[in-house]
Amino acid sequence: MTIAFNQVAVIGAGAMGRGIAQIAAQAGSQVWLYDTQADAIQKAKEAVFQVWESLATKGRLDADTVNAYKSRLNGASTLNDLKSCELVVEAIVERLDIKKSLFVELENLLPETAVLVTNTSSLSVTAIAAALKRPANFAGYHFFNPVPLMKVVEVIAGLKTNPAVCERLTEFATQMGHTPVQANDTPGFIVNHAGRGYGTEALRIVSEGVADFATIDRILKDQVGFKLGPFELFDLTALDVSHPVMESIYNQYYQEPRYRPSVITAQRLAGGVVGKKVGEGFYTYVEGKPVIAPEPPVPEVKEFPPVWVSPRASRRLELLQLLKDLGATIETGASPSPQALTLVAPLGFDVTTVAVVERLDPARTVGIDMLFDDAATKRRVLATNPATRSDMRDAAHALFAKDGKAVSVVRDSGGFITQRVVANIVNIAADMCQQRVCTPQDLDIAVTLGLGYPVGPLALGNKLGPTNVLEVLFNLQTVYGDPRYRPSPWLRRRGAIGLSLLQTED
Ligand code: NAI
Repeated sequence: MTIAFNQVAVIGAGAMGRGIAQIAAQAGSQVWLYDTQADAIQKAKEAVFQVWESLATKGRLDADTVNAYKSRLNGASTLNDLKSCELVVEAIVERLDIKKSLFVELENLLPETAVLVTNTSSLSVTAIAAALKRPANFAGYHFFNPVPLMKVVEVIAGLKTNPAVCERLTEFATQMGHTPVQANDTPGFIVNHAGRGYGTEALRIVSEGVADFATIDRILKDQVGFKLGPFELFDLTALDVSHPVMESIYNQYYQEPRYRPSVITAQRLAGGVVGKKVGEGFYTYVEGKPVIAPEPPVPEVKEFPPVWVSPRASRRLELLQLLKDLGATIETGASPSPQALTLVAPLGFDVTTVAVVERLDPARTVGIDMLFDDAATKRRVLATNPATRSDMRDAAHALFAKDGKAVSVVRDSGGFITQRVVANIVNIAADMCQQRVCTPQDLDIAVTLGLGYPVGPLALGNKLGPTNVLEVLFNLQTVYGDPRYRPSPWLRRRGAIGLSLLQTED
């Protein structure tokens, strides 16, 4: 196999640079690592050598391979040492002025054919290339931390990038064992843009007092299969990193409401309550472990009222079957008897509005989120409205917990919690396709590998049904009167004609 780049320079020997140097050396390139801090190079080399040695100890690499890898990882003491490199990957401080002047210097040193790339996560590739004589040879190459484990890289074309350069970078990514995805130069590229739906909507839900952080984390993990809840993720990433990213993408898109950050994280950042690394974030950490308050217990209910299910409930037949399995007495009349617990299962609408529109007694009305197939989730979510009687709330809670499945009861908000977050994730992904940031396929690949979502946003939209997602969005827009819920035309068109969200052509 011929390697796409034989001589590779990596500038910046920090967290990212050392990872990139490691995988390039493993792929077979001669790698030259440079940093303005001389000891950083040595430290990075030692750290990478240690990784290889520990893999050898575990029997995953043999001694010859380790020696070959080591022989390909070199330090460079000046930029001049990089003169014969065919590829330069920059992973220095995230400052436009410093990156720009570094590339101007490199362009004057290196052969005309050299490819220059930046690992920036938030700056414009086109802007970094603006002062270059050969912007066609310049691209973004966005890796994720830790590089050897996060096996995806975004290949980003700036306005003037030659497509052949992206093709060569794509080939090299594969040779390094990574999955390349193609992105146009837009704020946040793919992963950091697609990731906006999760945390920002969860923050908005908290800001409305619908549920607390821990409940929201539990619901999204158990209903959708996310590995980490949004607040666990905020704590891990730390707000000094994630809040500025939220602000940056919001402002780069000229205050697009879908990306609106939250005053909650602004305040916590100002107060230094930034996450796990300081021992205090949304959760408090003791010896590195979060302290999580126990869930409210299932109420004891001696006698269950009969249950009446709204004819307009989503997944009504499944809901009726579930109630039967749970041993409920189901009413079949056109309207509920005066004793009945009244169940509604709206998409997007709040329980209060549904009770009013369907002329139900709000005191006995409880909502259940049926967006997902009950069998596919580990938790059921119920919502009360401001008038729901506590005996009705408790009866619903205890009834749905009868088979041992976890149940959360949240306040009324429209879209419960999962519907809001999921609909936002799908809608933002759809809008990215509309903007031609990338192909639908690359979007789903990048998000599953880069964010660890259980399924890509568009595949998730297909699974739930684009028309159901649209219904959630339209109704949320009515409930909130907020443009952040307006459905992307890309999603609307596909929903209208029943097309898969992973279908590329239009
Ligand atoms: P870091 O702070 O760990 O390392 C940066 C290194 O660059 C330091 O060793 C520093 O001495 C060196 N440096 C600074 N200015 C330099 C210059 N003018 N010439 C040569 N070396 C210089 O930073 P990290 O986290 O590795 O990030 C580097 C780049 O990668 C940034 O652009 C960042 O936005 C991007 N990035 C970071 C990710 C992360 O999770 N840390 C993820 C994806 C991209």
